[in-house]
Amino acid sequence: MDFNFTEEQIAIRDTARDFAQNEIAPSSIERDIKAEFPHEIVKKLGGFGFMGMMVPPEWGGAGFDTVSYVLAIEEISKVDASVGVIMSVNNSLVCYGINLWGTDEQKERFLRPLAAGQKLGCFCLSEPEAGSDATQQKTEAVKDGDYYILNGIKNWITNGKNADVYFVHAMTDKSKEHKGISTFLIEKGTPGLETGVKEDKLGIRSSDTCTVSFNNCKIHKNQLLGEEGMGFKIAMETLNGGRIGIGAQALGIAQASLEAAVKYSKTRKAFGSPIANLQAIQFKLSDMATNVDAARMLVLLAAWKKDQELPYAMEAAMGKLLASRTAVNNALEAIQIHGGYGYVREYLVERYLRDAKITEIYEGTSEIQRVVISREVLRD
Ligand code: CAA
Repeated sequence: MDFNFTEEQIAIRDTARDFAQNEIAPSSIERDIKAEFPHEIVKKLGGFGFMGMMVPPEWGGAGFDTVSYVLAIEEISKVDASVGVIMSVNNSLVCYGINLWGTDEQKERFLRPLAAGQKLGCFCLSEPEAGSDATQQKTEAVKDGDYYILNGIKNWITNGKNADVYFVHAMTDKSKEHKGISTFLIEKGTPGLETGVKEDKLGIRSSDTCTVSFNNCKIHKNQLLGEEGMGFKIAMETLNGGRIGIGAQALGIAQASLEAAVKYSKTRKAFGSPIANLQAIQFKLSDMATNVDAARMLVLLAAWKKDQELPYAMEAAMGKLLASRTAVNNALEAIQIHGGYGYVREYLVERYLRDAKITEIYEGTSEIQRVVISREVLRD
């Protein structure tokens, strides 16, 4: 077993770390308070190849591996988990699928600008009545000659307000249930595509989330990704990779919480010495460090398996499950260690908790990750 990263992986991690410190950190508190989308930061991330990390260079991407992707998302999310999710959705949920199932024409039209960070993508699967039970798509796409007419509503769409490309799942044949779902690539500005009010969220406030509706939206058949009826398979396989991205985002929050707790406990004095000398604090720090390392191993294992073209759905679900729980627990413990100071904005740890919670919900709740894991565990 070789646990060493390659020189390229280390260089990518260090670039992401420097970028996060220099370009993201200075505005993160203000963007969280004002719920402001980081337009300039996203553009700059594109310049570093971070918006299309695993897309081959021939289609405008950086051609990096998934392990490097995990390292970069963790570093970015350690400083600002909102930026982490914007990057993760574009990379894992949008670019990945177009690269794998798109025609050359679709790659030229959609993937090249997305991978270069010139355009932004969003993934439209969830609906008001189809969240965890994703097979129950009500959005319909009815064939009309060379076109499809789409009608329906999607919700909880990360990047929804700012996206240029919408990766949309819709029912093309209800009689076939989930095998009647298809995927479409739809551009901003298409008549009938409308976005709703931006959600006022607990955390990841600098990323945008909204509903997206399709009202007699006319889409040419060359915007169908893969074949008719492949949509659920595309969604599930895409989400397997997406869970690696969200696992890495959660690692960033968990690690940031640990580092903040260590720093504070070495300086804050109580009972005559730094609180780091108290066993009550030491045990908390031990558990936080152990859990974040265990979660990192799982997320990296999933990434490594994906790079080796081995099955990785279970490891991706395990990584997300553990990393998201660790993010919430570490943020809670970091607040506890900070005492009253942990409850106010100045020390950042309150934001870590607000940002952490969503990692247990989106791209499959923790309960859904357990469904995915248990099915593999019980497989004959
Ligand atoms: N990988 C690959 N294929 C999978 C799969 C996986 N993880 N899970 C299911 N499938 C396949 C099955 O093999 C099956 O294929 P066949 O029909 O060819 O046999 C098909 O999908 C249907 O599977 P099931 O019969 O198991 O369906 P189910 O309804 O019992 O369960 C589920 C499916 C696992 C619960 C699935 O619905 C699921 O993952 N739900 C969660 C959806 C989710 O993660 N939503 C997040 C939306 S994105 C988001 O968060 C927004 C954002 O902007 C960040």
